[in-house]
Amino acid sequence: MDIGLADEGRKRILWARRHMPVLERIREEFDREKPLLGVRVTACLHVTVETANLVYALIAGGASVALTASNPLSTQDDVAAALASDGVSVYAIRGESDEQYYEYLEEALKIKPHVTLDDGADTIAVVHEKHPDLIEGIRGGCEETTTGVIRLRAMADDGALGYPVIAVNDAETKMMFDNRYGTGQSTLHGIMNATNVLFAGKTMVVAGYGWCGRGLAMRARGFGSNVVVVEVDPRKALEAVMDGYRVMPMTDAARIGDIFVTVTGDTSVIRREHFELMRDGVIVANSGHFNVEIDIPALDETAVSVKSVKEDVVEYKLPSGKRIYLLAEGRLVNLASAYGHPSEVMDMSFANQALAVKYISENYNKLENKVYAVPTEIDRTVARLKLDAMGIKIEELTPEQKNYLSSWTMGT
Ligand SMILES: NC(=O)c1ccc[n+]([C@@H]2O[C@H](COP(=O)([O-])OP(=O)(O)OC[C@H]3O[C@@H](n4cnc5c(N)ncnc54)[C@H](O)[C@@H]3O)[C@@H](O)[C@H]2O)c1
Repeated sequence: MDIGLADEGRKRILWARRHMPVLERIREEFDREKPLLGVRVTACLHVTVETANLVYALIAGGASVALTASNPLSTQDDVAAALASDGVSVYAIRGESDEQYYEYLEEALKIKPHVTLDDGADTIAVVHEKHPDLIEGIRGGCEETTTGVIRLRAMADDGALGYPVIAVNDAETKMMFDNRYGTGQSTLHGIMNATNVLFAGKTMVVAGYGWCGRGLAMRARGFGSNVVVVEVDPRKALEAVMDGYRVMPMTDAARIGDIFVTVTGDTSVIRREHFELMRDGVIVANSGHFNVEIDIPALDETAVSVKSVKEDVVEYKLPSGKRIYLLAEGRLVNLASAYGHPSEVMDMSFANQALAVKYISENYNKLENKVYAVPTEIDRTVARLKLDAMGIKIEELTPEQKNYLSSWTMGT
C-alpha cells in the first residue's frame, strides 16, 4: 500500500461526506450514543470513498473495523491509504490477485468479528467453509448486493446458514436508488472512461431488466442509444417492451449490438455462440456482481490473439478477423473503470448498513439463522432523513385517512 496517497484519499472521502448527509447524521448520532461499543466488524466491501465514510460512522459508534475489498479491481488505493493512516485495518489493493483477495479476507477475519458486512457474501462463505469456529461469536451479518442475497437465501434454504443476516440490498431505499440510478449512471461512466465511446446512435444491449438493468437502459436511452433488452423473465421482458425497448434473445441481439452490458447476476449470459455472431469492434462489459456473466474462458479459447489495447480494454481477435473489446476483465465496470455509484445513492445504502449493524447489535439474541429484510422502520427512517436533507416535505395522513386505510368495513 502506498501510504503517500493518504492525503488525496482523505480529501476525496471528505468530498463524498458532503454528499452523504444521512450517513453523516447517523455518524454524529453514533458518536454521541456509542451503540456499537466493543463491536468488532469485518467488512468485505468495495474500498471506495463512500465505504470509508461508512467505516468512520461505525468507528464513531464504538466499533472496531477490519476492511477488505469485495472485488480485486474495485479498491481505490488512495482511500485504502487514508483509512490505514487513520489506524483502520485495511487489506486491499487495486489489481490484487484472486489468491491475495482470499488471503486479505483471512486477515480481516483475524479480529474474530461480531458482525460481518458483505458485498457478494464472500466473508460469510469463507467463515462457513474455512472458519466455522468463528460462527459462535458472530451475532449477525449484512449483505449489500443482489447476488449475495441470492447466495445467502440458498444457504438458509439448505439449513446451512450459521448466523442471521440482514439483506440490506432489499431495502427499498437501497434497491430503488443504488441498483437503479447508481448502477445506471456509473456503468455508463465506466464504459466512457474506458473507451470514450459515443453512446448516441449506438445500439446498446442490456442483459437483465431488474433494478440495475432498468436504470442502465433508462440512462443509455437518455444518451441517445437504441436500447435492446435481453431477459429471461417474461414479466420483466414485458415491462421492458412497455417501457419502449426492443426485447429479443441474445442470439438476435448479438447480431445488431454495438455495446453489450450484462447486469443479471447470472452466469454465461454472453457466451461462445454469441461472440461468433457479433459485429467487428463491439464493446462488451459487465456490471453484475461476479465476472462470470461474460464467458471469458470461451472468449480466450476462441480468440486467435488477445492484447491489451489501453487501460481496461482488451482486444480479442476471432478467427473471422472480427474484434471484440472486453472492458475491465469482465468485472464490475462501474467500479473498475469509474468511481462506482455516486455518493448520494451510497448515502442511503450505507445508512441502511449502519442502522442494520446497530439493529443486529441490539437484537441478536432474538434473531434466528435466517435472511431478514431490513426492518421497515429503518427503511422509512432512511427515506425520511434523505428527504429532510433535500429540504423536501411530504404529505401526511389525516386521522380520518389512517382510519380509512386500516378499515375493512368501509366500502361503496
Ligand atoms: N455494478 C454495481 O455496482 C451493482 C450494484 C447493484 C447490484 N449489482 C449486481 O447486479 C446484478 C443484478 O442486480 P439487480 O438488483 O438488477 O438484480 P435483479 O434480480 O433485480 O435483476 C436481474 C435480472 O436479470 C435477469 N436474468 C437472469 N438471468 C438472465 C439471463 N441469462 N439473460 C437475461 N436476463 C437474465 C433476471 O430475470 C432479472 O430480471 C447482481 O449481480 C447484483 O449483485 C451490481
